[in-house]
This record gives sequence, C-alpha cells and structure tokens, in this order.
Amino acid sequence: MLSPDFLWKDNNMKLLFIGDVVGDRGCDFLEQKIYQIKKQNDISLVVINGENSALGNGITPYSYKRLISLGADVITTGNHCFRRKESIGLYDENEVLLRPANFPEGVPGHGYTVIDLGFCQVAVINLMGTAYMEPLDNPFYCIDSLLENIATKNIIVDFHAEATSEKKAMGFYLDGRVTAVLGTHTHVQTADESILPKGTAYITDAGMTGAELSVLGVKSELAIEKIKYHAPVKFEESENPCFINGVVVDFDEHNGKATKIFRIIER
Ligand code: FE2
Repeated sequence: MLSPDFLWKDNNMKLLFIGDVVGDRGCDFLEQKIYQIKKQNDISLVVINGENSALGNGITPYSYKRLISLGADVITTGNHCFRRKESIGLYDENEVLLRPANFPEGVPGHGYTVIDLGFCQVAVINLMGTAYMEPLDNPFYCIDSLLENIATKNIIVDFHAEATSEKKAMGFYLDGRVTAVLGTHTHVQTADESILPKGTAYITDAGMTGAELSVLGVKSELAIEKIKYHAPVKFEESENPCFINGVVVDFDEHNGKATKIFRIIER
C-alpha cells in the first residue's frame, strides 16, 4: 500500500513554464513537443512567455490563439507586449494574457491574473525589470502592493528583465512570499535553478523556444550586421533546428512552497 507521504508528494502541482517562444517556427516546434513534455512530467498548469510569438516580433491575435490552443493557461509578455498594434485590444479582452504589472496606470490590460483550478487557485504575475530596460515603475514596490491583494499562496512570477543582478535580487526579495520567480527576456537559459531558503523556486532565465543556432532566434548574419554597423536591419527568424527551453516547478498547493525545479531542454 502506498504511504500517505508518497501520495502527498505525488499530488504536488507541476507547473510547466516555457521561455520566450520565438516566431512561427518556435510555435510549430512547441506544437510538436508540448503534449509529450506535459505527459512525461504530469503537468497541471502551463505558463508560456509569448511576447515574441508572432512572426517578426510581438504577439498577434493569431499567435495568441496558437499558444492557447497548445494548452497555455496563462501567457506572459514583456517589453514587446505592445509591439503589434492589432493586438493591443487583446489585453483588455483576455485576462489570461498579461503585460508587465509595472506599466503606468491607464495602460491596457492586466499585470496579473488568478486562475481557478477547482481544488486550488494560482496567481500568475508578470513584472518587468528596469535595469537596461524601459523606465517603468519600480518592480519591487509594484510587487509589494500586488501581493497585498492576492489571497492565494500559489503565486508564479515571470520577471522579464535584462540584468542578472536585478533578477537575483528579486528572487531573494520574494523568497517565501511567492512560489516561483522565473526570469525571461535574455533568451539564454541559465544553469542556476534552485529552491531558495524559504521555499521559492528560482531561475535567472528560463531561455528561449526557437532556433538554437541563432542570435535570440534571429538569423545570426542579420544580428551581426545590426550590431557591427548599427544599420537598420529587418530581422528574420533563423531557419536552424529549434529547441524548447523551460522549467518544471513542483509545488505544494496547500502552502505555495516549491519543492523542486528542473530545466527542460528539448531538441
Ligand atoms: Fe523581452
């Protein structure tokens, strides 16, 4: 007979968090693999960063629907959230499509959402860093006020930021106050996944879903031209084989504490 302890552990919630999906090719590859990843890891909840899911950057109604059809419970974004004019309306219409919470008041959309899974609720917060990024409201003050209004202990934060120091600081700042602080934006997966001392899962960057041999998903020769000559260059998706980057986080939905985090790299 299985011990209650075994059953308790096995009943933990398992979050699949997918790092920035880049373009059509990233969506196509995710479509091929996500069902297998979900099945293998007994996934109960999926969060995908979709701010680059449209062909040519940003998110469109088409790429939004694609990610939803692939099983995303919540889609987070970042600095490219309003890149596509045609999708600005989506943010008010769909509570599961988030833009960073520290945009100024009056900006369309929501910075967090609470999804009800019946047996528990899970909040997902999208926040953006300000080091080497746009001067949004201070994310540390912003999250303090958000957390005052969120009742569930199960809280996932996508911290879309450039500087590793700002991301690390946010991880420790929120340790014990949220379930997970998962970084996005750099498109490069870091190897520092850990459970912090008070039970928060952390990774500096979950990485990217798109062409592996590329510059952040873009054809390397175009990125070189742009960086070397500071010339206006139209970026195109790399045609090299894709990979999926992300993390799985196990957490106890009774207390919101994370028990395990591991990285996913699927080629
Ligand atoms: Fe970004």
